Amino acid sequence: MPETAYERYLHADKILSYQKKDDELICDGERDFQGVQQESEFIWTRINLLLKKTSKKIMSGDPNGATRSLEQAAALWSSLTVKSEELLWRLWPNDFLKIRTVIGAGGSTSDSPRYRQSEQLAKNIWGPFTDQLKKSSITVSQLLKMEDHDEMRALLKAMMWYDYRVQEFQIAHIYLVLGEIGDRTVGLKGGTTDYLIRRQSQYLFPELWESINELYQ
Ligand code: HEM
Repeated sequence: MPETAYERYLHADKILSYQKKDDELICDGERDFQGVQQESEFIWTRINLLLKKTSKKIMSGDPNGATRSLEQAAALWSSLTVKSEELLWRLWPNDFLKIRTVIGAGGSTSDSPRYRQSEQLAKNIWGPFTDQLKKSSITVSQLLKMEDHDEMRALLKAMMWYDYRVQEFQIAHIYLVLGEIGDRTVGLKGGTTDYLIRRQSQYLFPELWESINELYQ
């Protein structure tokens, strides 16, 4: 069949050539596992673009635009959460045992540059946000007590929402790990669920959450 314009635009041939062929799969679950990991990389590139846009919009004094970009990025994390849940639901542990033998050492998603970048880009939002507040001579604690400054308050809420959506993914992923390798087997980078639980408690915007405590002091 001749290549359609749709396939040409998507580079469909190239993309699909990176997927194992049906007869190369070592078990049925491998299509799901490899597929989810590949899709995740694409999603992180979309998240990262939105996070870059968020920072730019804050710096250019467009908090509304920043809020929209950040909320969209948060929604994309939900699709990663669903993918993690999908594997917990479908991937048989003994299939994953076989898949692990072909991934090899150094194959941990921990080493995904796009995932790491997403973390850095999100953390980078806090500085420009507080800089903008400084321009109006207000602190985060003061903003929490205000009833005006709607745009900055919406952006602060979007940051809570974003952090939550990432945490939600981390929790789904911890359960996936429990369901595939248990809580004592080390991952491909030497971590167990203990490491993931510690990571899960590290917020992207620690100062934001801390400021809520201050409100009640
Ligand atoms: C299917 C079975 C999976 C298992 C058993 C598993 C296991 C693990 C383990 C043990 C770690 C800790 C580091 C290490 O030693 O590798 C880890 C890290 C990670 N995994 Fe998975 N994983 C699985 C699937 C996935 C999927 C489908 C995704 C993405 C959608 C994913 C995303 C991540 C990320 C982002 C990290 C880094 C966490 C951090 O350091 O902040 N994993 N995984």
